[in-house]
Amino acid sequence: MDLGIRGRKALLSGASRGLGKACALALAHEGVDITIVARTRDVLEKAGAEIAQDTGVKVTTVVGDITTQQGRSAAVAACPQPDILLNNADGPLPGDFREWSRDDWIAALDAMMLSPIEMMRLTVDGMMARGFGRVLNIVSRSVKIPQSELGLSNGARSGLVGFVAGLARQTVGRNVTINNLLPGIFDSDAQRAHVRALVEPGKNFEELWRARGEANPARRYGRPAELGAYCAFLCSEHAGFITGQNLLIDGGSYPGTY
Ligand SMILES: NC(=O)c1ccc[n+]([C@@H]2O[C@H](COP(=O)([O-])OP(=O)(O)OC[C@H]3O[C@@H](n4cnc5c(N)ncnc54)[C@H](OP(=O)(O)O)[C@@H]3O)[C@@H](O)[C@H]2O)c1
Repeated sequence: MDLGIRGRKALLSGASRGLGKACALALAHEGVDITIVARTRDVLEKAGAEIAQDTGVKVTTVVGDITTQQGRSAAVAACPQPDILLNNADGPLPGDFREWSRDDWIAALDAMMLSPIEMMRLTVDGMMARGFGRVLNIVSRSVKIPQSELGLSNGARSGLVGFVAGLARQTVGRNVTINNLLPGIFDSDAQRAHVRALVEPGKNFEELWRARGEANPARRYGRPAELGAYCAFLCSEHAGFITGQNLLIDGGSYPGTY
C-alpha cells in the first residue's frame, strides 16, 4: 500500500532507540524526511546515520531534552513546519506512591503530559492551516490497565489522553488527527530497565524477563518494528478518519472485550 506521505516532514522526539526509533525508520521507509530528537549525541547520530543509509531520506538530528523549553525550541527550530509529530520520551521507573514528592509528580507531569501538549501547541495550528497533520503520542497501556507499580505513569499519562480527547475533535476538520498509541510490553531498553527494577531477592532478571513474555497472550514481547508499522499507517493519508483514539498494541494483554 502506498501510504501517500512521501516527501512529508516528521518531527519525532525520543527517537534514537526503541519505539521512537522504530517509528522514525518506518516513516523514513515511506519517504518521509525526519527530524529526530534525543539527549545522547552519539547514539542519536548513529541512529540518524543508519536511517539515512537504509532509506535515503533527509535525516536531521537534534540533541536535546524534550521535557525542557530549550529542547522543545531546538526541536521546532530544526523542523518548523512538521506534517507529522511523534511525542515520545522516557517513562517513569516503578515505585511506591508513598515515596513520591511533589517534585517527582511535577517531573512526571512535565515528561508525560505537559511536554507533549506544548509540542502540540507549537505545531497543530500550522498543520491545520496547511490542511494535513498527523500527531501521535506514545503513551502506555497503563491508561487502560493501571500498573500498580507505575502510579506516576497511570496518573500523568491519563492527563494527556484526557486533553487529547478534546483537542483531537477540534483539529480533525482540517485533516489533522491526534491519536495515542498504548504499547504493552515491547522488547526495548526501557522494558529491560523496568524488569530489572522488579527483580526481587531469589529471582533473577532472565527468569523474570522470560515469565513476563510468556504471560502475554501472544507469549512474547512486541517488536518495536511492529509499532513502527502501525505508526506509519496512522500517519498516512488513509488515516484521516481516525482521531482521538487510544490505540492498544499489546498482544492482547488488555483483558476487556471493548
Ligand atoms: N517498551 C515498552 O514495553 C513500553 C510499554 C509501555 C510504554 N512504554 C513507553 O514508551 C516510551 C518509549 O519507550 P521505549 O521502550 O522505546 O524506551 P527506550 O528504548 O528507552 O527509548 C527511549 C528513547 O527516548 C529518548 N528520550 C528519553 N527521554 C528523552 C527526553 N527527555 N528528551 C528526548 N529524548 C528522550 C531516548 O534517548 P536518550 O536517552 O538519549 O534521550 C531514546 O531514544 C516510554 O515513555 C515508555 O515508558 C514503553
